[in-house]
Amino acid sequence: MKAYDFILKSYDNTIEGGSVTWESPSNIALVKYWGKRKNQIPENPSISFTLTECKTITEVTFTKKQSDDFSFEVYFENQLEDAFKPKIKTFFERIDLYVPFLKDFHFKITTSNTFPHSSGIASSASGMSAIALCLMDMERLFSQNEISEDYFKRKASFLARLGSGSACRSIEGELVVWGKNKSFKDSSDLYGVKFNQPLHDNFKNYQDAILLVDKGEKQVSSTVGHNLMLGHPFAQKRFEQAHENIEYLKNCLISGDVKSFVKIVESEALTLHAMMMTSNPYFILMKPNTLEIINKIWAFRAETNSGLCFTLDAGANVHLLFPKAEESKVYEFINSQLVAYCENGHYICDSIGLGAAKI
Ligand code: DP6
Repeated sequence: MKAYDFILKSYDNTIEGGSVTWESPSNIALVKYWGKRKNQIPENPSISFTLTECKTITEVTFTKKQSDDFSFEVYFENQLEDAFKPKIKTFFERIDLYVPFLKDFHFKITTSNTFPHSSGIASSASGMSAIALCLMDMERLFSQNEISEDYFKRKASFLARLGSGSACRSIEGELVVWGKNKSFKDSSDLYGVKFNQPLHDNFKNYQDAILLVDKGEKQVSSTVGHNLMLGHPFAQKRFEQAHENIEYLKNCLISGDVKSFVKIVESEALTLHAMMMTSNPYFILMKPNTLEIINKIWAFRAETNSGLCFTLDAGANVHLLFPKAEESKVYEFINSQLVAYCENGHYICDSIGLGAAKI
């Protein structure tokens, strides 16, 4: 599908108001999106696990209005939150063409996360996808239910991408691919698509324990981060590598090859950080405790032959990914050896999930 196909051409404009609520999960990339072009087009394909527990719940209440501009207020955890407005305004400007009723209404956006705000966990994927889904629910209402479930999800992902790139991977589960690539014929730069291959039992119900090493605000915003890839000396090689890793990972997920999965996922995480360390300006987003945890994981794996591995976002927190069958062994390891490296001993237990849901 082309961007043009997502323009809503006609709709029932007699509806005066209403309210819709969605919950949408966060996701964790296995092959990382890092670098983008104009209009939120990724420089390379990415693939992620959709999470279950870390999610945003958003209610959008809409009331017909006369004025000619965007009008909205945002409440975060029941407090008026103006700090979120610029990001949402930019989002509305980007999607205006595709959601022509946006200026017809005043919106009250009420949102909350299941994870603590200051946990260093990015809420843009779950937050932007939840708003996109609410707007798609409005579109469905105004189209008198004449849109298919497939179109609903695809356009929700398309809109979410315009809010935050990785948000387009939060609509569905268990794995989502975003960015045109040869390994997945239906993949697109415009929206995420479900991993459409038979997932091996080894990866069903995969677990993600998120170790909160640094709960502070992000040191490098995603906009600054992605821009670091512009003119980066290793950018082209990195983008090629992501295509290769998508293909290798696809084969692992089908064949159940956990050992190769571990190598690709950890290499992707370290490559993401290597890109930041070698950009201009350069950043080190890991903390000493991030490295302590990585070394402990490697030692644990050498001793126990475990399938446990780590991945990182653009920050210091560490995601521990492991098969469901290893759950008790890994949590024992976390509690005895890793909690000491977490801020206030905090970590979050999550697992691979099925995607967003209407409430
Ligand atoms: C390191 O989706 O937050 O988490 O499109 O600018 O909103 P914007 O960026 P964002 O970038 C996420 C980068 C990442 C890797 C990933 O999730 O693939």
